[in-house]
Amino acid sequence: MCGIFGYAGKKDAGSVIIEGLKRLEYRGYDSWGVALASKDGIEVIKKVGAIGDFEELEKLPFSNIGIGHTRWATHGGVSNVNAHPHFSADKSFVVAQNGIVENYQELKNTLITKNHKFITETDTEVIVRLIEEKLKSTDNLFDAIKKAFVDLKGRNTIIILPTSGKEVYAVRNGSPLVIGIAQGEIFIASDTLSFGNHTNRVIYLNNYEMIAYKTENEQLDIYNVNNGNKISYQESLIEQDNVDIEIQGHDHYMIKEIFEQKDTIRNAVQYSIEELHDLIEAINKSNHVYTVGAGTAGFAAGQIAYYLRKIAKINVTELKSYDIDSYKEIFCDKDLIIAVSQSGETADTIEALEIAKNKGVKIASIVNMQGSTITRISDYQFLSRSGPEICVASTKAFTAQISWGFLLAMSLVGKHDDAVNEIYRISEMLENYFRSKKFFKSEKVFKEIAKNFANKEHFFVLGKGQNYYIALEGALKIKEITYKHFEGFSAGELKHGVIALIEKETPVIAIISDDEYKEDMLSAVAQVKARGAFVVGISDQDNQLFNTFIPSCKSDYIDSLTKIIPFQLISYYLGIQLGNSPDKPRNLAKSVTVK
Ligand code: F6R
Repeated sequence: MCGIFGYAGKKDAGSVIIEGLKRLEYRGYDSWGVALASKDGIEVIKKVGAIGDFEELEKLPFSNIGIGHTRWATHGGVSNVNAHPHFSADKSFVVAQNGIVENYQELKNTLITKNHKFITETDTEVIVRLIEEKLKSTDNLFDAIKKAFVDLKGRNTIIILPTSGKEVYAVRNGSPLVIGIAQGEIFIASDTLSFGNHTNRVIYLNNYEMIAYKTENEQLDIYNVNNGNKISYQESLIEQDNVDIEIQGHDHYMIKEIFEQKDTIRNAVQYSIEELHDLIEAINKSNHVYTVGAGTAGFAAGQIAYYLRKIAKINVTELKSYDIDSYKEIFCDKDLIIAVSQSGETADTIEALEIAKNKGVKIASIVNMQGSTITRISDYQFLSRSGPEICVASTKAFTAQISWGFLLAMSLVGKHDDAVNEIYRISEMLENYFRSKKFFKSEKVFKEIAKNFANKEHFFVLGKGQNYYIALEGALKIKEITYKHFEGFSAGELKHGVIALIEKETPVIAIISDDEYKEDMLSAVAQVKARGAFVVGISDQDNQLFNTFIPSCKSDYIDSLTKIIPFQLISYYLGIQLGNSPDKPRNLAKSVTVK
């Protein structure tokens, strides 16, 4: 969702900001804007749609300081006027925001009674008018921002550029904000990836911290916005191998990221038993372990809970981060939560963790984005190290997360090395599969399936045991890119209602591992087949019940890991067949920083 990028330094701010916004594109946006300060005041351009090489960009003045924003509309339609940054009435400053002002209606009504005029439908404009209102009792913009910010409810992060172009301010609460530091330069942005190509030196901000940067003496100060006290801060270094966002000759990021899984599953298990030791001890000592996440990360949380129960025999409950209501009552200081997230900035997950943390629950996390909020609030932090995931639909982050969960479960029962070896073996199988002619043969199968599926609307996915969450995630993946109704079920659910939906030619995808549920799965397939279903089998062995067979790699320990890949490929090829954009599916944002 919305992205913020501010820059001050020696370079051409316009180009640095546009490049930074492009590196934030993956978060999802529908419009964007840039504001640059120069001796003639502030120049703003705002546009609906993708950031392109517009002529207007060339017309922007040379400037050493500016702010930019990518907007994912929440309040007010997608339009140039609603895009950020927003000017103050007297054009003395501009504001961009990430988040939602939950009390914006109340604030707006009060501000209207004080004669403020509103020209947009956004909640952001309330912040602009509120700062103007506070400026009636002080001529100090810094003070006015501070006073306005504490009146806002909700998770909000704002950046403000005054016309003087001599300073830039930003305040954080909930929505992400990090600072990048280089010689004579500062970057203020929603994530470290956006400036990771310029510097690896970062400062992380906590909630209610405010940045004031003065260009004259390159002075950076950080304050607590509630009491105005100055805060001492420390620099950290980010791992720079994870900042490359080149598409490397692929048609789309989605297919690039699907192929990358041969490497990323290996990266995710680069934790020695010593590095896992503290978490293992905390799990062993805890009263109850929960896993938590949303969407794909929620399914990964479910799969990790499954491995912890099945392999390590630990009592683990998987939770959806947006639906922890009844658990609030029973969380206690002897519990442990393992949070799963690609971005580390998902508002629902952060809120769940905050609630749990207040009850004394210990937090562990497996996150892809280094330096993100979830990582920073965790007692035990692990990175999935998949590299930037640019395609909105998550692929490599999911397999990395479940590989890490498998490593954890196996390590709990003294089988750390077996887990690593197995992930390496699968990685090799995937490498051979994607490299060899086999893939090109199956690419034909996927394209064929895409053609067959293009005219259908309803599809069902069946899995059981280790493949239950794979069925749910497989169905979600295809929904996201094809906009078709795919529904994942446990095969056990079939006879209890779902079978009523099966009619002649209904497509059913069945995931069948060579495990204790193989017979159950084959019975379920026979039952849908008897009612005319068109069955696609994902398995390591063909079966006469399948109309189409998709072979998948076999693993004794973690077969489920390889079973998700065919779904990602069906999603990609069917999405293309339907003329959809695989990397930027409609309505979706990558980083869901609002509730
Ligand atoms: C789907 C997808 C989403 C995310 C969810 C949580 O492909 O990516 O369902 O998994 O929004 O996001 P993270 O993982 O960033 O916490």
